[in-house]
Amino acid sequence: MGTQNNITWHKTTVAKKDRHHLNGHKSCVLWFTGLSGSGKSTLANAVDHELFSQGYHSYVLDGDNIRHGLNRDLSFGKADRKENIRRIGEVAKLFVDSGIIVSSAFISPFREDRELVRKMFAADEFIEIYLNCPIQICEYRDPKGLYKKARQGKIEDFTGISSPYEIPDSPEIIIETNNMTIEHSVKQILSYLKGKKIL
Ligand code: ADX
Repeated sequence: MGTQNNITWHKTTVAKKDRHHLNGHKSCVLWFTGLSGSGKSTLANAVDHELFSQGYHSYVLDGDNIRHGLNRDLSFGKADRKENIRRIGEVAKLFVDSGIIVSSAFISPFREDRELVRKMFAADEFIEIYLNCPIQICEYRDPKGLYKKARQGKIEDFTGISSPYEIPDSPEIIIETNNMTIEHSVKQILSYLKGKKIL
C-alpha cells in the first residue's frame, strides 16, 4: 500500500483568485515545445524579461537547468522523459497556483506527455507554444554542439536524430523561429495573453 492512502488534500486559505487580484493579472503556463536549438530557452527568457519589465509576475523553468537539480536522476529514454515532463507539469501547476506566469522550455517531444500536462490545468491556463523550426536549421545552429555529437553516435536517443519529435496537433500558438525576430515573437505571445485577458 502506498503512503498516498493516508494523505488528504488541504485546501489553501488564500485562493488562486485572491493572488490574481493582488497581482493584477491572471496566471498561466506558457508551454514552449520544439526541437533542441529551436529557440525555446531564448524565447521563454525574452518573454519572461518583457513580462517582468512590464511589472507582471513571471518565471522560467528550463530543461537544461532543471535536469541539473530536480530531475538530475532522469535520462533521455522514453519513460524518463515522461517522468521529466510529469514533474515539470506538477511544478508549473504550483507556480500557476501561486499566481505566476510560468514559461517552461522543454523539448517535451511526446504528444501524450504534453497532453497529460494539459489535463492538469484549466482550459485557459495551459498555452502550448510550438516552436516550428526545421531540423536542418536547428542542426546548423547547433548551439551546444550536440547535433554533431549525435550524428557521430556519441549521444543516445537524441531528439530529431535517433528519437522522434511529435509535432503538436493544435497548439495555441505556433512560432516559426527561423522566419520571425525574437521581438516580434514576444509581441505575438503578449498580445495572445492580452486577448485572453490574462494580462
Ligand atoms: S525532454 O525531451 O525530456 O523534454 P529536456 O528539454 O528536459 O528534454 O532537455 C533537453 C536538453 O538536454 C537539450 O536542449 C540538450 O541540451 C540536452 N540533451 C542531452 N541529451 C539529449 C538527448 N538525447 N536528446 C535531447 N536533448 C538532449
